[in-house]
Amino acid sequence: MSDTLTIALSKGRIFKDTLPLLAHAGIEPLDDPEKSRKLILDTNRPEVKLVIIRAADVPTFVEYGAADLGVTGKDVLLEHGGNGLYEPLDLEIARCRLMVAGHPDRPLPRRPRIATKYTTITRDYYARQGRQVEIIKLYGSMELAPLVGLADRIVDLVETGNTLKANGLVPLEHIMDISSRLVVNKGSMKMKHAPVRAFIEQMAEAVGGRRSAA
Ligand code: ATP
Ligand code: PRP
Repeated sequence: MSDTLTIALSKGRIFKDTLPLLAHAGIEPLDDPEKSRKLILDTNRPEVKLVIIRAADVPTFVEYGAADLGVTGKDVLLEHGGNGLYEPLDLEIARCRLMVAGHPDRPLPRRPRIATKYTTITRDYYARQGRQVEIIKLYGSMELAPLVGLADRIVDLVETGNTLKANGLVPLEHIMDISSRLVVNKGSMKMKHAPVRAFIEQMAEAVGGRRSAA
């Protein structure tokens, strides 16, 4: 059915924060991804399905049209490159900052090692400033790297700062603010124009409503 809409979401904070926005669009999942092992969730609207995937995979599913729409962090989107996608809306959820962090008073070597899962953003950030660094790719628990001598600095997301603090690290440089975006497959925008546009408008209305209630 050409008017079916498939929306890609990741479990955890994005799913949780997207639920009220979907509810505004009259969409309610029939299963809880934290409890069910299902990867395709039906909703109360038979033409709308949710696919539950890893956060970093959302842009790929949407780019290839395996999902018409998706919700993904700007961090993930920048790392992915954002090709083949439209990004029509800032959903203003999962807000945090991408930061350089490290030990408060340690001198840096001439070419510091920076541990991060955001290698593209990090490379661009230091290149723009003409600073020589060695980037070490990690897939998680970046905060550990300076504690065990793997890296001098990390580039990671910071919300409350609790994770840094718990590991004796401090935020040092603010790279950018991050929030989650609605992304749309370019083909779906054309071929399923009416339902996709209607969905984007409902989400925009929900975001606006939340903003004015805050
Ligand atoms: P996975 O669980 O698959 O390894 P992940 O850890 O990146 O992926 P989440 O932790 O759910 O998945 O993060 C999804 C998105 O939420 C991130 O890409 C980022 O945009 C945002 N985010 C991550 N951590 C925070 C945080 N502490 N506070 C607010 N937003 C965050
Ligand atoms: C993210 C991020 C930091 C933490 C920052 O991890 O990678 O470690 O949140 O948040 P804070 O400043 O409020 O402490 P997350 O909680 O998503 O865990 P993860 O490593 O499983 O992604």
